[in-house]
Amino acid sequence: MFAYRFQFFLSLCSCSPHDTLRWVRNALPPISPSERLLCGPGPSNVEPAVLEAMQRPMLGHLDPEMHEILLEVVDMLRRVYRAQGGLVLPLQATGTSGMEAGLVNLVEPGEKVIVGSSGYFGARIAELARRRGAEVVEVSAEWGEHVPNRRLLAALDDHPDTRLVAVVHGETSTGCEHPLEALGAALRGSDALLMADCVTTLGGVELDFDGWGIDYAYSCTQKCLSAPPGMSPVAISDRALDRIRARRAPVPFSLDLLLLQDYWVERPATYHHTAPILHIYALHEALRLTLEEGLERRWARHTEAGTYFQQLATCAGFELLAEPAHQLAPLTAVRVPDGVDGKAVQSELLAEGIEVGGGLGPDAPAIWRVGLMGPNARTDTADRVFESLTAAVESQAAVAVAG
Ligand SMILES: Cc1ncc(COP(=O)(O)O)c(C=O)c1O
Repeated sequence: MFAYRFQFFLSLCSCSPHDTLRWVRNALPPISPSERLLCGPGPSNVEPAVLEAMQRPMLGHLDPEMHEILLEVVDMLRRVYRAQGGLVLPLQATGTSGMEAGLVNLVEPGEKVIVGSSGYFGARIAELARRRGAEVVEVSAEWGEHVPNRRLLAALDDHPDTRLVAVVHGETSTGCEHPLEALGAALRGSDALLMADCVTTLGGVELDFDGWGIDYAYSCTQKCLSAPPGMSPVAISDRALDRIRARRAPVPFSLDLLLLQDYWVERPATYHHTAPILHIYALHEALRLTLEEGLERRWARHTEAGTYFQQLATCAGFELLAEPAHQLAPLTAVRVPDGVDGKAVQSELLAEGIEVGGGLGPDAPAIWRVGLMGPNARTDTADRVFESLTAAVESQAAVAVAG
């Protein structure tokens, strides 16, 4: 105790009078987070213009001016999702709540759901569907493989009373992309709705909600859209809306899409909750920049950066986890070579200011997950991450040999 007090006294002596006053009043200094190049599975770095948008004057959530901004966000989201019918809006929540909102609004307890699962997030859909009380038919594949559509369709043949088929478009835990367009085409005419997790694909990978026959899609703001985490844009088809209107079981108030529609889209707007005004400004700016760049150009930029990084990695002898024909562009899972401490490599990169991810969850193989999303979807960023990664691997390999 005495030693602690003495140390405290010494720290006061070395402070400026202003700092000393603060100590005496027991106030902490403001935070000053380090600059990071965020090249993990997300969040990615936020565009400076998006951060600036968050500093514009606060409006109230019931201000008519704010309601115009909401409609602009919805309109831009429709263009980014390519969803003209049904309902489109962002939830005040992250991607997981977008997933949960889809399940609770579209599935009633006891109903059947088919889930394609070959990674952490496919398994999460299955888990949330079970929590909803659904009967889940999980169609699984190894991590790094995609679940072939023919297996999902065979499950549907075996369970014709299925209400919903759910897949992950971009499985961030493995870097594998699901052939979603083909699944939508194959399900056309079926009574089962198609739900797609587009958390890692919206704004970075080709996606056509209407054209591909998707009924419910959810995403996030913190990856290819380059805004901070905190919102989950969702799109709902007309027939999915009919299903929601006919639902018998109640849904949690905060995820009730019909109530949310009354605030986001219907005018005059009806209060549902206090909207996160500054996050909405951020999303508005992120969507504006996305459309200004052009969707096709943005997808091409993500493809170019991702495939460039993948070529660098494979040419250098690294092995990728995802099957090559289904490799996702914005996220690459690189296997950690034998004898290398993957976590130590991540720490070395972080000390240099670069964040990359590791394996997610207990079932994950030893991998690094490198995300080139939003402003980081560039070949020069890919070069920087790759050079730092290889340098860290060499230094860790040297440590292993020495040890
Ligand atoms: C494919 C996928 N689905 C769902 C989620 C969950 O999103 P969140 O962490 O924003 O809740 C993530 C998060 O990274 C994801 O990558």
